[in-house]
Amino acid sequence: MITNTEIAKRGNQYPNHIVDFKQEKDKFFFTTQNGVILELTILRDSAIRFRYATEHVFEPDFSYAISDDVSLGYNQLSIQDEVPEYIITTSKVKIHIDKANLKVHITDLEGTVITQDELGFHWEENYNYGGNNVKMSKVCHSGESYYGMGDKASHTNLKGKRVNNWVTDSYAYGKDQEPLYKAIPFYVGLKENIAYGIFFDNSFSTYFDFANEKRNVTSFWADGGEMNYYFFYGPKMSQVVEAYTDLTGVPELPPLWALGFHQSKWSYFPEKKVKKIASTFRKLKIPCDAIYLDIDYMEGFRCFTWNNQHFPNPKKMIEELEEDGFKTITMIDPGIKIDRDYWVYQQAMDNGFFCRRADGPHFKGKVWPGECKFPDFTNPEVREWWAGLYKEMIEEMGVHGVWNDMNEPAVMEVPTKTANLDVRHDYDGHPCSHRKAHNIYGMQMVRATYEGVKKFSFPKRPFVLTRAAYSGAQRYCATWTGDNVATWEHLWIANVQMQRMCMSGYSFVGSDIGGFAEQPNGELFARWIQLAIFHPFCRVHSSGDHGDQEPWSFGDEITDIVRKYIELRYQLLPYLYTTFYKYIKNGMPMIQSLVFYDQEDQQTHFRTDEFLFGEHLLVCPVQEPNSQGRRMYFPKGKWYSYWTDEVITGGVEKWVAAPIHVIPLYVKEGAMVPKYPVQQYVGELDIKELGIDVYYKEGIENSTVFEDQQDGYDYKKGRFSLRRFRLRGKKKELIIQQFKDGDFITSYSKFKLTFHGLPFTIGKVELDNEEVNPKDIKLNGNNSLEVSKDFTELHIFGT
Ligand code: GLC
Repeated sequence: MITNTEIAKRGNQYPNHIVDFKQEKDKFFFTTQNGVILELTILRDSAIRFRYATEHVFEPDFSYAISDDVSLGYNQLSIQDEVPEYIITTSKVKIHIDKANLKVHITDLEGTVITQDELGFHWEENYNYGGNNVKMSKVCHSGESYYGMGDKASHTNLKGKRVNNWVTDSYAYGKDQEPLYKAIPFYVGLKENIAYGIFFDNSFSTYFDFANEKRNVTSFWADGGEMNYYFFYGPKMSQVVEAYTDLTGVPELPPLWALGFHQSKWSYFPEKKVKKIASTFRKLKIPCDAIYLDIDYMEGFRCFTWNNQHFPNPKKMIEELEEDGFKTITMIDPGIKIDRDYWVYQQAMDNGFFCRRADGPHFKGKVWPGECKFPDFTNPEVREWWAGLYKEMIEEMGVHGVWNDMNEPAVMEVPTKTANLDVRHDYDGHPCSHRKAHNIYGMQMVRATYEGVKKFSFPKRPFVLTRAAYSGAQRYCATWTGDNVATWEHLWIANVQMQRMCMSGYSFVGSDIGGFAEQPNGELFARWIQLAIFHPFCRVHSSGDHGDQEPWSFGDEITDIVRKYIELRYQLLPYLYTTFYKYIKNGMPMIQSLVFYDQEDQQTHFRTDEFLFGEHLLVCPVQEPNSQGRRMYFPKGKWYSYWTDEVITGGVEKWVAAPIHVIPLYVKEGAMVPKYPVQQYVGELDIKELGIDVYYKEGIENSTVFEDQQDGYDYKKGRFSLRRFRLRGKKKELIIQQFKDGDFITSYSKFKLTFHGLPFTIGKVELDNEEVNPKDIKLNGNNSLEVSKDFTELHIFGT
């Protein structure tokens, strides 16, 4: 890789002094004498967009990343024209623009610097392609840390690293390998307890150097396109991530079954094998909601076809699996086999839907089916056609969900692993080459898939999965982290990747549990399951050429451990679903790194292993073989061991026991954790009571339970049930208030409360201000009680 210094030597150019300034409502334009224009837009008081043009010309303003639902509007805006600089002030920040050189620094209202240009915006003529390589460099202050950036397989804190965003098929990638499958050019900076974010919305290959080349400089640049970035001010990390997520969007609620356990392999075929796998789950009573068909279900890897020998009657098979509680998910790749007798190929040929090389002919590349052509998903007409192709698969065959793979696009037998850079794309009416469209190609494919699956699944909700992604792809689908390996190191990688993705606005994410390449042993598989039940997307997948990777493939001891943890995931479904709801409602990441949970605690800045799953659960995976326990850090607060109820006060690193059947799992004091009974699949049981684990706290803590029909769109019309519980513990009292919102009537009206850590013996109990007979509430000592109506206040008095 060429270094920044080398690039600099080749002739960087810089803006000089400002000669013109104008304001148009929320936009400010600063023009320099040498033709640079800075267009600065105030989206919100703490969200500001910076765009730079050279030679006085902006490119058309278009981005695939930005959500249609982004919230705009600010409370205060003014500009001062001072001697050395312009100062723009909102209700949150001051933006200083130096008149001599267009350099920017941003402070909070007290004047503390949040971020500051080093060289600031500069550019260099790109002689290979013509046009500019745009660059930005900022001061990296001592003690500053960096997080986010999608799926990087590196330490959660990126300080000292250089990364590249160029979506790449990275089979069996390693720690710190660059680039990987996603391009999410967004980071969160943390400086002196102030968090801010930078999103460089540029779909070319982008690079970020976090004080790697120079100790005190953080820079980012691109192989083309504009310097176009968004700045978000915190000062809390949660505010930064929420603002980025608001800008690039969130998905709809998935159907609840999509949050169950999924089983996959390359490939389950023929039909008999698929059925056998499904029936073994039921026989062994291991919950499972979905089974995946990898490429071998197709006829010669032709998308939208079925291999009739292996699957003589797919509709019937899918129906029978569904009767047994299994959803069927099929794979669709972008490469369309060159075959004049194949209808999908013919249609694309007839309509001119395939990508072309710059000099005319179609782009061809080898993938699983052999020589293929590739639809140009950046053309809206192509997306519409592609969406329509799902009609038969979803509407007639009854397939429940689709995974799009190889959509980087991956191309075999070429060193670049992808399409030629001169390939032409429509880019929604902004024609360009693959250099610009590469990073968003997979995202546009899965967008089209989502539209199709959604249309034909209606009135149910769609489930779609992608491998390649650019910022904003989270609006359409879940994602997994590609072809990992069955090693302990990859268990570590999976953990940091999930935390990082969640920090990057993309929460519906999971890894191939157990590893895709190579074969895990039982211990590794069990440890991976223990971690992955706390990942939003939970699926075992493997390349299948190394042996079996089903929960029962490693002997009885491991099967029992795996079952216990999958059962725990099913018990926690209402907690998980509520966590998903909060993600789409507030942009709150479903998994939080410790630094996100408490940025004020310096200890958290370099932690990689521990994380919060939802609001109240603290998890720390065991990542080494033969462990009887491990050291872990407890952040602020008091934490109950999920297994023993032992209470640990945060701010300490401690050794905790974790033999093979135990993952360190802690519950925040005051939490009320909702639980369903174990089901073999979502919807198996009519839920007759909501279990709630109540963890005593002296003081106040809030908990939420979101529920709805578990599928369909009625929740958007108010048919949801949102229960907010407010727990208030005193020395000899516990008061639980419930506030309800939404029109959905849950199938239960009974609550079974199980108490943890009550410091007193229960004497009297009042329900909605009336004393109740202990027998009527099945009071069981100090352990539990049952309430069989939708109470508003439960008051427990100690003796
Ligand atoms: C790719 C995918 C993998 C899949 C395989 C065959 O390697 O990442 O999940 O099983 O292709 O389709």
